[in-house]
Formats: sequence, structure tokens, C-alpha cells
Amino acid sequence: MGNHADEINRRRTFAIISHPDAGKTTLTEKFLLYGGAINLAGSVKGKATARHAVSDWMEIEKERGISVTSSVLQFQYDGFCINILDTPGHQDFSEDTYRTLMAADSAVMVIDASKGVEAQTRKLFKVCVMRKIPIFTFINKMDRDANDTFELLDDIEKELGIATCPINWPIGSGKGFKGVYDRETRSVITYSDTEKGTKEGQTTIIPLEEEDKLLSYIGDEAKDKLTDEIELLDGASAEYDLDNIRAGELTPVFFGSALTNFGVEIFLQHFLKMTTTPLPRKSDVGLVSPVENEFSAFVFKIQANMNKAHRDRIAFMRICSGKYESSMEVKHVQGGKVMRLSQPQQIMADERKILTEAYAGDIIGVFDPGIFSIGDTLCMPKEEFRYEGIPTFAPEHFARVRQLDTMKRKQFVKGITQIAQEGAIQIFQEFNTGMEEIIVGVVGVLQFDVLKYRLENEYNVEIRLENLPYEHIRWIENKDIDLDRLTGTSDMKKIKDLKGDPLLLFINQWSIGMTVERNEGLILSEFGRN
Ligand code: G4P
Repeated sequence: MGNHADEINRRRTFAIISHPDAGKTTLTEKFLLYGGAINLAGSVKGKATARHAVSDWMEIEKERGISVTSSVLQFQYDGFCINILDTPGHQDFSEDTYRTLMAADSAVMVIDASKGVEAQTRKLFKVCVMRKIPIFTFINKMDRDANDTFELLDDIEKELGIATCPINWPIGSGKGFKGVYDRETRSVITYSDTEKGTKEGQTTIIPLEEEDKLLSYIGDEAKDKLTDEIELLDGASAEYDLDNIRAGELTPVFFGSALTNFGVEIFLQHFLKMTTTPLPRKSDVGLVSPVENEFSAFVFKIQANMNKAHRDRIAFMRICSGKYESSMEVKHVQGGKVMRLSQPQQIMADERKILTEAYAGDIIGVFDPGIFSIGDTLCMPKEEFRYEGIPTFAPEHFARVRQLDTMKRKQFVKGITQIAQEGAIQIFQEFNTGMEEIIVGVVGVLQFDVLKYRLENEYNVEIRLENLPYEHIRWIENKDIDLDRLTGTSDMKKIKDLKGDPLLLFINQWSIGMTVERNEGLILSEFGRN
């Protein structure tokens, strides 16, 4: 115990989030340029190496041009071992993204300088703020005409309710982009366009005092504007405060251009100084220390069919403490079993690398014969604790599932149960019957298509979905309530989840209010229990 401290302390694990097209992929690729050994887990979305390697149900992804998988990348830089968790950008898959955020210690947020905060970013950012995940902002595409810098910062503060602290400040944008001013060293780093795919080009660093040199590089107009802006900024912006940054209450802001590779390494260096080593995690026996405790992990994502050549299911887990060694025995707490994780691996775009060791902060993928669920804990056989559950989001769309060939009942139940374990859908039953009638709930309607496609292609079962009009779901907190005597509105529907816990479906908020009013003492909750 504790002797893996150096390995753990050099780890940094962050999620990268953005609205589609803001430049997340490009920025990630530039990070990798600075890294040594590159392990590509999953894929960097849509780029040449990975595009063809994904499995067949990803056809949906290809057809619709969206990214449905979260992937993991690991690279080394300046003595650090960095894990990047990529997140899908499309809002129908936001639940997956939320879970990925649970596995990260901080988030890097990419914003398009000509667009500001966009819808998807807003949602994700809110989750970070709610969970107090430190957020590092990279305002990208400064080589294109950008919004006013103060407006961009205002936008972040207003839309997301978090203070901003610019670490550097752009000088112009688009054709007039001259570089950034570094506030700490009070010097200007000049912009130079570089070829795609190369490291940062020749930049010149000019201290503010060297006026003549500065003028010759950026010109009168830009110099005057910069002087004014620095004055405004020093007077008006939030002070740099590392504690606030780490508490997720202040976001440091950087400017750059991922495409032309300007400001990326500067960002990376500052980021590594500000971010933390893997953080302790909450469990039902208190905080678990990454360094002091032996191996433990939790499952944050399950994905079937990562690769056509391996028709299997992978459980992704974040190691929260200690070291994992191959063929080590671990306890799957929710399953109540001691087991060996079979062939833990980092999933590569088209190959898989078997791991012999991994440390707190790392993400491993483990072959899953259908036993893991999202949120499950793994620890040493002699221990027994559970990590804080991952909240499930209330589904907003519901449909009744009709199975077309009743002879395939077994495959159907297996398929739909496994897909539910992966967290892509939630399944419910009619209140008074069993598995004959299944109701499925999803957060985004695209999941209905994914369900249908996967049942057909992986389990050989055809289904028909009949949409139901409900939009709100509530769990009943009171254990002692008599469901038969519950008086709701005429459009209310009683169902139960797979554990047998009762739930109510409603068409609108008004019906929820009426039902609470009519049944004294009834307590309804928006969240299920893990
Ligand atoms: P995403 O992962 O966030 O969805 O964005 P991605 O990196 O794929 O970038 C979206 C588009 O924006 C790409 O152009 C990319 O080249 C461009 N881009 C990214 N960073 C910058 C930047 O700093 N400056 C400028 N000017 N453009 C940037 P594309 O034409 O859609 O794709 P591609 O053909 O270049 O690959």
C-alpha cells in the first residue's frame, strides 16, 4: 500500500467536452502530438484511423454523422501520464456523457470563439458545476473572426453561472490575430501559423516593456487596444485563485487555435500545473484515498460490440485507488462474487492492448459476460464497500415494446435486459403483470432506434415500438403506500421497475401536482435508486 504513490500522483484524468464542431477532436489530436507513447482507446471521432474500425451498430452513428461512443486516450507528457475521456457531443447521448464526467477529475471545455456558449455546452457545463468538477476553458478558432473577448467571457459567466479568469488574452482574431498576452509573465506570445500536424511553430515572446519590439510585431492599433484591455481586465476580472478553480467555482480561460496549433502547448502546461492528481472518491464507508487504499474501481460505462471482430461487451471502469495487476482477484460487490477480471485492456481503434498493470486515475476496459451494471464497485476480496451511485436521468420518452416473434422470448428478454444494464435505456413493467409487457423509457428518442437496431442485429429479435404519451416519471418514496388505493388523474399510469419498485407516469406537470394533492403524505422523486 502506498508504494504506487509516484505512479498515481503523476496521473491526470480529464474529460473533454464541447458542442459539436467547436474543435474537440482537433485539440485532442494536437495534445497527442506532444505526447510520447500514444494509446488510442476507442477512437478519436471521425478521423481516418478509426472511422472504419467501429462496429456495425455504429452504422447509425455513421449515417447520422454523430459520435455515439466515449473513448479513452492515454499519453505521456513531461513526466505526467494523462488520460483523456472523450465525450459524445450529440444531445441524445447526453446521459453517456454525464457518466463519463463522473469518471473524470476535471473537464476541458472547448468553445468556438465565433459562437460562444452553445446549447450542448450549456447542459454539460451545468453538470460539471453541479458536481463541482473543475473546468478549464479553451476558446478555440482564434484564427477566424471571433466575438468580442469580453462578450465571450460574459457569455460564460451568465450562461453557466461560473466566474472566469483569463490566463491569457487574445490580440485580434481572424486575419488580424497576432497572438496572446500572458498575464502572469506580462508578455506577448506572437502567433505563427504552422502546418497541420506539426508541433507549435516559431513563436516570439515579447515582454510588455519592450515597446518597440512589440510595436513592430503587432502594430499600433493592436498595441493600443491591448493596453486598454489589460487595464480593464486587471480591474474587472476575477482574481486567479487555485482553490476556487479546484472547487469548480472559477474557470481559467485560454485562447488559441487548435487547427494551426497555437496556444495548445501553453494550455497543456498551465493545465497540468492547475489540475489535481486523482481525487479521493465517496463511498458508503467514507472517502477512499487513491494512494492509501488498495485496488478499487467503479463501472461508468458499458458498451456492446466495440469491434466487429470481437462480438462482446466491454465494461469501462475508472480505477479509484491502488494498482491493478493482471490476474489479480477482485470482488464485484454488487454481484457478491470474487473473480478475476478477464484480460483487462485498453481498447484500441483496431487493436486491443492487454494491460499488465494500471493505477488509480486510469480507465480500463474489461470483458463483460453480462454481469456488470453501470455504477458497480470492484474492490479487494477482503473488502466490501460501494462507491456513490451514478444518478440515472429521468427518461422523457416512453414506448411499449411489442415482440413480433413470440418464439424468441428468451433472446428478447436477455437482449433488452443487457441493453438496459448498459444504461442506454430503462425498462419497466406493467404494474400488475410480469415481463410480458415491457415499457421502455429513454432520455433521447434516438435511443429507440438504437434499441430496435441492436435487438435485430445482435439478438435476432424483431420488435415494434408503440409510443406512449407520457413525459414525466416519478418514483414513489413511501414504501408503505397502498398502490391500489392511490388516486391520481385519469391519465396517470402505474408501472414498476425491474426491482419491483413502483413508479408513476404522467403526461404533464399538472397531473403530478394533482396526484400529490389528492394523496396525503405521498412523496414522489425524480430519481431512481441505484
Ligand atoms: P469536434 O470534435 O468538436 O466536433 O470538432 P473538430 O475538431 O472535428 O473540428 C470541427 C471543424 O473545425 C473541422 O473542420 C476542424 O478542422 C475545424 N477547426 C478545429 N479547430 C480549428 C481552429 O482552431 N481554427 C479553424 N479555423 N478551424 C478549426 P472541418 O472542415 O469540419 O473538418 P476537416 O475536414 O478539417 O477535418
